[in-house]
Amino acid sequence: MRTILLLALLLPATVPRDDRDRSPYDVALSSDGRWALVANATSDSVALVDLEAGKVAAEVPVGRRPFSLAWQGATAAVTNWLSDDLTILRIEPPKLAVAATVPVGDEPRGVALAAGRAYVALSGENAVAVVDLASRAVTKAATGDEPWHLALAGDRLAVSCSNSQDVRVHEAPSLKLLHRVEMRGHNLRRIAAAPDGSVAYVCNIAERGRPATKDNIDRGWVVASRLSRVPLREESFREAVSLDPRGKAVADVDGVAVSPDGKALAVAAGGTHELLLLRLPLPFVAFGGPGDHIDADLLKDATRFRRVDLGGRPVAAAFAPDGRTVVATNYLSNSLQVVDFETGKVTRAIPLGGPAEPSLARRGESIFYDGRRSFNQWYSCHSCHVDGHTNGSAYDTMNDGRYGNLKKTLSLRGVAKTGPWTWHGWQTDLRNTLAHSLRTTMQGPEPKAEDLEALAAFLATIDFVPPAGPRDEPARRGEALFKNHGCSTCHEPPDYTTGETYRVGLEAPDDAYSGFNPPSLRGVVLRGPWLHDGRAHTLGDLFAKHHRPFKLAEKPDFTPEELKDLIAFLRSL
Ligand code: HEC
Ligand code: HEC
Repeated sequence: MRTILLLALLLPATVPRDDRDRSPYDVALSSDGRWALVANATSDSVALVDLEAGKVAAEVPVGRRPFSLAWQGATAAVTNWLSDDLTILRIEPPKLAVAATVPVGDEPRGVALAAGRAYVALSGENAVAVVDLASRAVTKAATGDEPWHLALAGDRLAVSCSNSQDVRVHEAPSLKLLHRVEMRGHNLRRIAAAPDGSVAYVCNIAERGRPATKDNIDRGWVVASRLSRVPLREESFREAVSLDPRGKAVADVDGVAVSPDGKALAVAAGGTHELLLLRLPLPFVAFGGPGDHIDADLLKDATRFRRVDLGGRPVAAAFAPDGRTVVATNYLSNSLQVVDFETGKVTRAIPLGGPAEPSLARRGESIFYDGRRSFNQWYSCHSCHVDGHTNGSAYDTMNDGRYGNLKKTLSLRGVAKTGPWTWHGWQTDLRNTLAHSLRTTMQGPEPKAEDLEALAAFLATIDFVPPAGPRDEPARRGEALFKNHGCSTCHEPPDYTTGETYRVGLEAPDDAYSGFNPPSLRGVVLRGPWLHDGRAHTLGDLFAKHHRPFKLAEKPDFTPEELKDLIAFLRSL
């Protein structure tokens, strides 16, 4: 035992612990297509993979929860979502080294590189940042709500903003906002520009707010998958194609890659464990939408639409310069998979490292991301509870004892310790809650006891995201306001909730359960719209109209200055 410990201490610091799941989340290829650079989300590392030899050539530790990466020449940049920084890497294959770590802002997500600058989407600040790689100077500009990914095409920077449901097109490097393209759907993910820079492609979901019955699900009226095309050069509308065949849908579309000639696309659909191979022209429709199901002619034409089963959870993809080889990262199987676009065959799978057997929590994670747990595989838990959080949208999951009644998706951060569950707080047993989600929300196969065990073990790993920094002066004033306005009676520290339900004046006469359980206020600022039906679109509205201190505890309402301080405090939770 002692020798093993000693050996572990003697290992160079650059070799990450081998038994951790790698969960590759993003990939970029070298300009000659020989090497792949991979961001390993759960081992906090980046690996350089030799695609010819089919193995990892080097792996270095980076910040916490690497999210996205970009590679140009001998330089790569990796965003670390939970440590709020950017790792700059030097690459001379087969060598890989960390050159610098640059603090960049709250919750960095997507990244792009050009002309000695890194562009970063900051989802904790609803901003985009440009980092001068030589001086390390960081400049920021406001963008949409919850920016996830970026695509750079010449002087156009396209930002996919999930909660504001739009793509913002900024000018690079000034970051001036040029126009916004409304998407009419949530879950905007990776965005890829066409080689000529005219458009960008992004996946998203479309929702129609119908109750989650089997019939509505299969009509595409609960959660459906779209591939959208967004104009970058002029202000115009988005166009979209539907991706779901009735009876066997596509779930959790995320990574999209464009071939070097701009004619082929690869889309990772993690929920249905597949890579979609598409070839232009596709039946894009702007007005009226593309219809609820995939175009019948497209579905029949294997040269333009093909589904390749990869297992696990493919999340990102990249085309090699030959325009034919596609490299996909498979989060749940800890591997890279190489797919031949022409034949649709998997030509190689490259393991990145990880435990021989998945842990209980990892088994739960694979249920969480599994679209086959829903009726005809239309969506997974992750479709609404994105990475265990909320996508900000409201659904009628009939979980409140009523039909035709939308509820905002609750965040599952900290869920294991914040019972009772659901907005009304009627669920007092977490496993029951999960069984209900699988049966009713998903209309899926009957869960086994071990599925619920595994799912609960995974949910216990989903924690709150740490706040951006220590509590400053305004936040401390906000804390005092919070205390003397009686807020902590119902929102008790440390998680700012209680196990009780309260009637706070937001009840409907025909509610099946009385009152509401206050959701934890940790992370609350970043998950609007607020309240059980999402009726408050700003926190100002929330406290002025729907959740007034005067009505709750006969305390004076907040002045505009007090509101700023209160929000600074809430932001620090
Ligand atoms: C179609 C969107 C959607 C899907 C898919 C979905 N949920 Fe939910 N979930 C919701 C909504 C909406 C609520 C709030 C329901 C209510 O309070 O009535 C919720 C509530 C919950 C809660 C209670 C959280 C709390 O803090 O009280 C848990 C736990 C949960 N979901 C787990 C899951 C799991 C596990 C899955 C997959 C098996 C899943 N959900 C799939 C939308 C969804
Ligand atoms: C009597 C108990 C009670 C008091 C006092 C109270 N709250 Fe709440 N709070 C709740 C309940 C219950 C909800 C959920 C209501 C709903 O969604 O219909 C809630 C919701 C919220 C939300 C929205 C959460 C979300 O995710 O949408 C915020 C923010 C909030 N409260 C902050 C405060 C602040 C600040 C105060 C003090 C001024 C306060 N609350 C006082 C019970 C209370």
